[in-house]
Amino acid sequence: MDLDAIKSAYGRYARHYDTFFGNLVKPGRRATLAAANRIAGRRILEVGVGTGLSLPEYRPDCRVVGIDISAEMLAIARRRVERLKLGHVEALLEMDAENLTFRDAAFDVVVALYTASVVPNPQRLLREMRRVCVPGGDILICNHFAARRGVRAAIEKAMAPFSGRLGWHPDFNLDSFIDPDEIHVRGMRTVNPFGLFTVIHCRNEKPNGVRAAAHAGYGEAPSRRPVSKEPAKGLG
Ligand SMILES: C[S@@+](CC[C@H](N)C(=O)[O-])C[C@H]1O[C@@H](n2cnc3c(N)ncnc32)[C@H](O)[C@@H]1O
Repeated sequence: MDLDAIKSAYGRYARHYDTFFGNLVKPGRRATLAAANRIAGRRILEVGVGTGLSLPEYRPDCRVVGIDISAEMLAIARRRVERLKLGHVEALLEMDAENLTFRDAAFDVVVALYTASVVPNPQRLLREMRRVCVPGGDILICNHFAARRGVRAAIEKAMAPFSGRLGWHPDFNLDSFIDPDEIHVRGMRTVNPFGLFTVIHCRNEKPNGVRAAAHAGYGEAPSRRPVSKEPAKGLG
């Protein structure tokens, strides 16, 4: 799926997104934002902010910048900010999450809700999220990841060829996205509906606590060690 296909899919979805997906994505959004709101760091970037469903739920004492590739989704987010007078929203910008124009370490917390399985190159997205997050800062991701086996795995595999029309990759694999040897995974938990979504809380450092330059040595290779979906510690 290339950027044009994504723009066109979300241009189509925009008007009905909140009605169709609002409730489906609510538990994951709530769990992710609860974690974000517990963190002391106060300048937050949300990549793929969409129609801005999350924006009213951030602590009012933080500053949030949202970016998205879809002008139609952003237009709805802007109207929401205006209507609800969300003073903590610093900016909503049209930008590619894989090519962020922010300087290194510009944010304390970087959030991606249901966006990692949509972008053309998820590894590149994660690299950019790490680059603009302060070393040792927090990266929060909520997404659907493909089941490893069973009926759900079979359905997701069958849906994979239709990713262009769907606007996301049903067979998106957690192990090819997060390498626990490269980034400190603080916590991970599945959320409803039906445990379909996973919230991951990472610290922007190597697992041994070394705050290496955000993007140094972060390769494209999939992890050989599967990421365990054990109950989260950092997600309470
Ligand atoms: C499934 S929606 C999620 C929207 C929102 N985060 C939510 O929780 O409702 C995925 C969003 O990612 C955006 N997106 C996809 N690829 C992108 C990219 N490369 N850069 C920025 N945004 C992107 C889409 O336009 C869409 O708004």
